[in-house]
Amino acid sequence: MTPIPPEPPDDNAVRPHVYDGIQEYDKRLPNWWLFTLFITIVYSAGYWGYYEWFRAGPDGPQEVTVEIARIEAARLAAAPAVDDASLWKMSQNAVFVAAGRAVYATTCASCHHEKLTGGIGPNLVDQLWVHGGRPTEILAVVDKGVLAKGMPAWGPVIGPKKTAEVTAFMLSFHREGEPIQKQDAWVPIVPALK
Ligand code: HEC
Repeated sequence: MTPIPPEPPDDNAVRPHVYDGIQEYDKRLPNWWLFTLFITIVYSAGYWGYYEWFRAGPDGPQEVTVEIARIEAARLAAAPAVDDASLWKMSQNAVFVAAGRAVYATTCASCHHEKLTGGIGPNLVDQLWVHGGRPTEILAVVDKGVLAKGMPAWGPVIGPKKTAEVTAFMLSFHREGEPIQKQDAWVPIVPALK
C-alpha cells in the first residue's frame, strides 16, 4: 500500500466561528513576521544577560546620576565667577573632579607627588597651607604661581577651566570647614641619593 501523501494545507480554509457576520481565514503567519519575533527573542536574551545577569551596563539610577553630574559640571564650567562656594560645589561633582584628576596627573604630579603628598612642592592633602587653604586662595596659587619658590603660574598655560578643575580635584580631598593651619614654608622632600 502506498501511503497517502498528506494534503497540502488549505490556504483558504476559514475558521469555524463567525462574529458579527465576519469570518476569519486560518492562514500561516508570514515568514517576515516570524523572523521579527525570533530576532526579538534572541535580542531579549542578550539584553537580559548584559543588564541583569552580568550587570555589565549601568542601571537607570546610575545613568541619571552620571547625567546630572555631567550637566552640573557644564553649568559650573560656564559660570564666570569662581568663589569659595562654587569651588566646593565643583569638588563634589564627579565629572569635574575626574577632569581635574587628569590635569593633575599630567601637570602637577611630578612636583607634588601622584598621591598629592608632596615632593618638590607642598603636600596638598594635609591641612597645612603656605598660601592659605580657602578654595579661592588655592586657586590663586595655581593660577598665578609662586615664581620665586619654583611654583609655575598655570593659569596662562592650562586656562581657567582646567585651573578650576584641578583646584576642585585638590579640594575633593578636603571638606568645608576643616581646620586650616598656616605653614611657614615647605621643605622639599628630596629622594635620598644612593
Ligand atoms: C615644577 C614643580 C611644580 C609643579 C609642576 C607644580 N607645582 Fe605647585 N608648587 C611647587 C612649589 C615649589 C610650591 C611651593 C611654593 C612656596 O613654597 O611658596 C608649590 C605650591 C603649590 C600650592 C600651594 C600650597 C600651599 O601649601 O599653599 C598649590 C595649591 C599648588 N602648588 C598646586 C599645584 C597644581 C594644581 C599644579 C599643577 C597644575 C602644580 N602645583 C604644579 C612646585 C610645583
